[in-house]
Amino acid sequence: MRSEAGDPAASPADPLGGRRILVAISGSIAAVKLPLVVSALAKRGALVRCVLTPSAERLVSPVALASLSRQPVLLEEDQWSHGAPRPLHIELAEWAELILLAPLSATSLGRWVHGLGDTLLASVLLASEAPVLAAAAMNTSMWGAPSVSANWQALQGFEGVLPLGPQAGLLACDRQGEGRMAESEALLLALESLAVWGWRRDWHGRRLLVSAGPTREHLDPARCLTNPSTGRMGVLLAQAARLRGAQVDLVHGPLAVEPAWLDGLACHPVTAAAQMQERLIQLQPGADAIAMAAAVADHRPAQPRAEKRDKTALAEAMAQGWQEVPDLLTDLVARRPPGQRLLGFAAQSGDVLPQARAKLRRKGCDLLFANPIDRPGAGFGSAFNQGWLLGPGEREEAIEAAPKLVVAHRLLSALGALLTP
Ligand code: CTP
Repeated sequence: MRSEAGDPAASPADPLGGRRILVAISGSIAAVKLPLVVSALAKRGALVRCVLTPSAERLVSPVALASLSRQPVLLEEDQWSHGAPRPLHIELAEWAELILLAPLSATSLGRWVHGLGDTLLASVLLASEAPVLAAAAMNTSMWGAPSVSANWQALQGFEGVLPLGPQAGLLACDRQGEGRMAESEALLLALESLAVWGWRRDWHGRRLLVSAGPTREHLDPARCLTNPSTGRMGVLLAQAARLRGAQVDLVHGPLAVEPAWLDGLACHPVTAAAQMQERLIQLQPGADAIAMAAAVADHRPAQPRAEKRDKTALAEAMAQGWQEVPDLLTDLVARRPPGQRLLGFAAQSGDVLPQARAKLRRKGCDLLFANPIDRPGAGFGSAFNQGWLLGPGEREEAIEAAPKLVVAHRLLSALGALLTP
């Protein structure tokens, strides 16, 4: 049985820091992207070793990988010149806490699914119980071949494996279509999620609707009312849910973070609260749950203009007044179909809990995550978050300071537990 990678609550500051990660590279041209991924992992304090198939050796420099990982690279010939008492594939399989298998070629996929251990990399995969993030990459026609599709399908059922399908785009063979390996940012995110949560897809078969980021209310094309939300918390929540198997719709205002592409995560960009509301209402009926992480601007100008005003006219327009933006969350709660669960957010300064309790009652959502924004290292723009999760009955759970991905997984577990089986 493959092991679970960790309890989110016990994760260190960077979930990849100090982890023993085996980067297994097989023969697809996407292998050339791996040195930078290895470098990023090493900079984050992970202990990285690389193992290559014979064809990967021809595509990417073992010298580069060795110097970026600060470790000798394991090549096919090492299997036979190792000279150590224990077989190299067993030593590596037991050393690894996490395996990043990227790119996963058609051949290595076939070997793995059919239990063949005829390369060092293939035998490590068979011998290891560590969770594996497997990112496929190959030519479009190869990806579409019935045998490859069947192997990929079989991999979905493997315990301990988080499969990351390829995306569409221009391939190195000049074909346009599916086959590009997921971007490096997506690999790092999925690996972090594997370290924090593990590989189980407990949201499989569920649909989650997430809102994220600020909204913008324009006075004219040059000025707007907005807030410092970067959208990071909502984006991570959407991505974590996707990695746990949910189909996800992410309705977002202008973001300061680029959501890494994941198959099954649909982005719906909007600007103003009215557009966000319209989109959310459209998508609400199909959702099992909604997470309303957007920082919706509270007011909008009574008289927005399509052309730019001068300073004096602007001062007059600002004095003329503002309308309150309707509460999107309260409206969604009122419209919800039976069984749908809603998670609200509350960014607070001062005494968080009494304000959060009142907000939960006022909004009528099932769960409310309230976080302080006046403490260092949490809130807007920070990589970390902390707060309290308030919910049904007297539930008040303190969530200690942790990377936002860890918080996202905690919130998803709480929300998922409220869904009907
Ligand atoms: N929210 C919303 N529509 C609004 C304002 C907020 O749906 N017009 C949602 C947010 O997405 C969040 C929750 O309500 O999930 C709480 O947002 P917050 O800004 O803390 O609440 P407000 O009702 O605006 O209260 P405050 O007066 O504290 O700003």
